[in-house]
Amino acid sequence: MYLIDGVQVEKKDFTLPVENIGVWRGDGIFEAIRIHEGYPFGIDLHIERFKKSASKVFFDNINFEKIKKDILLVAENFQNGYVRTLILRNEKDSFNVFCFYQPPIDVPEYFTLQTQKAYWQGGGDFLEDDVFNIGTKSTSYAMNISHTRFAESNGYTDALLVNRENIILEGPTWTFGWIINDHIHVPDLDLGILDSITRRYLIRFGKEKKLKVSIGRLAEEELENIQSAFVLSTAKHAIPVSKINKINYSHHALINEIQQTFKDEVNIERP
Ligand SMILES: Cc1ncc(COP(=O)(O)O)c(C=O)c1O
Repeated sequence: MYLIDGVQVEKKDFTLPVENIGVWRGDGIFEAIRIHEGYPFGIDLHIERFKKSASKVFFDNINFEKIKKDILLVAENFQNGYVRTLILRNEKDSFNVFCFYQPPIDVPEYFTLQTQKAYWQGGGDFLEDDVFNIGTKSTSYAMNISHTRFAESNGYTDALLVNRENIILEGPTWTFGWIINDHIHVPDLDLGILDSITRRYLIRFGKEKKLKVSIGRLAEEELENIQSAFVLSTAKHAIPVSKINKINYSHHALINEIQQTFKDEVNIERP
């Protein structure tokens, strides 16, 4: 299913000119939402983040109520998969909203990760209040994906991004979590990582006492001291990490608990 500005089109018409600045400069923002039996999980939080991204990079007069309706329409037609919504700048200073269904993707059972320095990531040098556009979920993802490709070329599933001081940030398309003393940890937002929706849910599960969750920092040198680690995103509700660089990790029961808590939450939220 393909919508441009709320109008359903055929796949062959779901296109845009290369001249658009959204294509050749990546001047756009996006959200990806997972569908669970017709329900787009966390839709209100995704819309809230979409609004924030829009205001950070000067997309004005966007009708988010209409975008929400488009997303609900796409989702209700499918059992699983994703709704992707992109707002992309045109040749002139206008924009189009592209909303489409993406079928389920294959997610590996375990991730193996290679730490890589991300020179282009704020990495804690700048805080949200210092910089107007930090935390934008923009469509400029070429650097992120270059890390994934580099990790793959070295035999790993993906990269684990670190800052100048080797503090762990996030993955190219996911949040990192780790377990020490049977306690779950996620990095703090002052590291300039994306304000991930699934990370927010996990922190909320901690506040609701469903799981033990803390916000902190982990240096690459400390990877030897952790019990286990996991990858977290809209597409990955806690996928275990079996190896980072040369260090192997065994599965930890808490990762199953995280997965189960997400399943329960979907059931609570879905109307
Ligand atoms: C860089 C980055 N970090 C974290 C995430 C996880 O965010 P969410 O939980 O909202 O899917 C994503 C998802 O696309 C991402 O691209």
